[in-house]
Amino acid sequence: MPYQFLGLCIGSIPCKMSALRIWLMQALLIFLTTESIGQLVEPCGYIYPEFPVVQRGSNFTATCVLKEKCLQVYSVNATYIVWKTNHVAVPKEQVTVINRTASSVTFTDVVFQNVQLTCNILSFGQIEQNVYGITILSGYPPDIPTNLSCIVNEGKNMLCQWDPGRETYLETNYTLKSEWATEKFPDCRTKHGTSSCMMGYTPIYFVNIEVWVEAENALGNVSSEPINFDPVDKVKPSPPHNLSVTNSEELSSILKLAWVNSGLDSILRLKSDIQYRTKDASTWIQVPLEDTVSPRTSFTVQDLKPFTEYVFRIRSIKENGKGYWSDWSEEASGTTYEDNIAPF
Ligand SMILES: *[C@@H]1O[C@H](CO)[C@@H](O)[C@H](O)[C@H]1NC(C)=O
Ligand SMILES: *[C@@H]1O[C@H](CO)[C@@H](O)[C@H](O)[C@H]1NC(C)=O
Ligand SMILES: *[C@@H]1O[C@H](CO)[C@@H](O)[C@H](O)[C@H]1NC(C)=O
Ligand SMILES: *[C@@H]1O[C@H](CO)[C@@H](O)[C@H](O)[C@H]1NC(C)=O
Ligand SMILES: *[C@@H]1O[C@H](CO)[C@@H](O)[C@H](O)[C@H]1NC(C)=O
Ligand SMILES: *[C@@H]1O[C@H](CO)[C@@H](O)[C@H](O)[C@H]1NC(C)=O
Ligand SMILES: *[C@@H]1O[C@H](CO)[C@@H](O)[C@H](O)[C@H]1NC(C)=O
Repeated sequence: MPYQFLGLCIGSIPCKMSALRIWLMQALLIFLTTESIGQLVEPCGYIYPEFPVVQRGSNFTATCVLKEKCLQVYSVNATYIVWKTNHVAVPKEQVTVINRTASSVTFTDVVFQNVQLTCNILSFGQIEQNVYGITILSGYPPDIPTNLSCIVNEGKNMLCQWDPGRETYLETNYTLKSEWATEKFPDCRTKHGTSSCMMGYTPIYFVNIEVWVEAENALGNVSSEPINFDPVDKVKPSPPHNLSVTNSEELSSILKLAWVNSGLDSILRLKSDIQYRTKDASTWIQVPLEDTVSPRTSFTVQDLKPFTEYVFRIRSIKENGKGYWSDWSEEASGTTYEDNIAPF
């Protein structure tokens, strides 16, 4: 939002006093722009602090200081200052005239979100002119992030998430840090509103790494408690693949499954979870988990109905149950053999 500034002309060519009204946001821009037309203009005053960030619930005071030259040129003093927030005049009770050139405004128990505060003067028969404007931001310092947890998606990435706590209403950056004894991993940065970060690499296995999250905004910096773990205990394997189903001519009550486990199989022991249903059923039947605890790449499902089409799916997890179940494999189906009817 541009502000209308009341400026003071300095330079070789005198400029018309009240005609000079420039719509610009920053004093620097005014300087550059006006310099290009051969004059120097500076605002008639300024507000400090210039970039305030206020904690909600606290009190905030801003001061507008007018320049001596302007007092003369416009025949005003600080009692002529009118403060406005978002174009509405601030009640007189909140305003204090400090001296001939300065006026302050105080807001108690700040609850507003973002507000534009302007310092204006009444000059030449009550013409209100803008002197300076600032934006007040308000919010909270970041809470200490809690509940940090990570999941290692096999071969893809490590995703960590946390509970950021109370909304800060301010730009708050989160940085996920990780390291192990001999190496720091690259920082993972996220913006306000995101409470997870994905590290685009697979961490090393069989060593303990330390992970923590740092939060920063204009009102504070905090760091979570670090968590310490072996990434292998947070693994979510890729799902088993190439699931195939074959029937048995001898036994109409069984189907044999075979599949290929994730590549992790070469370094870890994985256990499986198998579910099946008849083709038209909507609910899955669970193969008892005790039956599939030992690492395997095949299994025979028993007690099936003859000449019936069954659909199967399978997933896996580290044998000791640490980490996360893989997604389900693609489904595969097969049909049991017809019952052997004794020929006459
Ligand atoms: C804010 O100002 C009010 C009124 O002057 C005062 O009662 C209150 O204690 C102040 N609050 C803080 C947080 O300083
Ligand atoms: C008026 O008060 C402001 C703010 O406290 C200060 O910066 C300035 O020097 C004072 N001016 C005079 C003339 O006392
Ligand atoms: C400001 O000017 C008015 C007259 O225009 C005068 O009455 C008042 O005392 C002045 N205030 C200060 C703080 O100088
Ligand atoms: C964070 O963890 C605590 C205890 O571990 C639990 O009580 C709380 O519900 C968790 N919060 C979230 C948002 O998950
Ligand atoms: C957040 O990060 C961005 C990009 O790195 C940076 O420009 C900005 O100043 C940071 N903000 C805070 C509050 O740290
Ligand atoms: C947060 O830390 C950075 C450096 O890491 C520092 O520049 C900044 O001033 C700190 N902010 C607060 C509010 O403490
Ligand atoms: C798995 O199936 C894919 C095609 O779906 C095939 O290219 C691949 O060779 C199979 N892998 C194994 C180990 O059977």
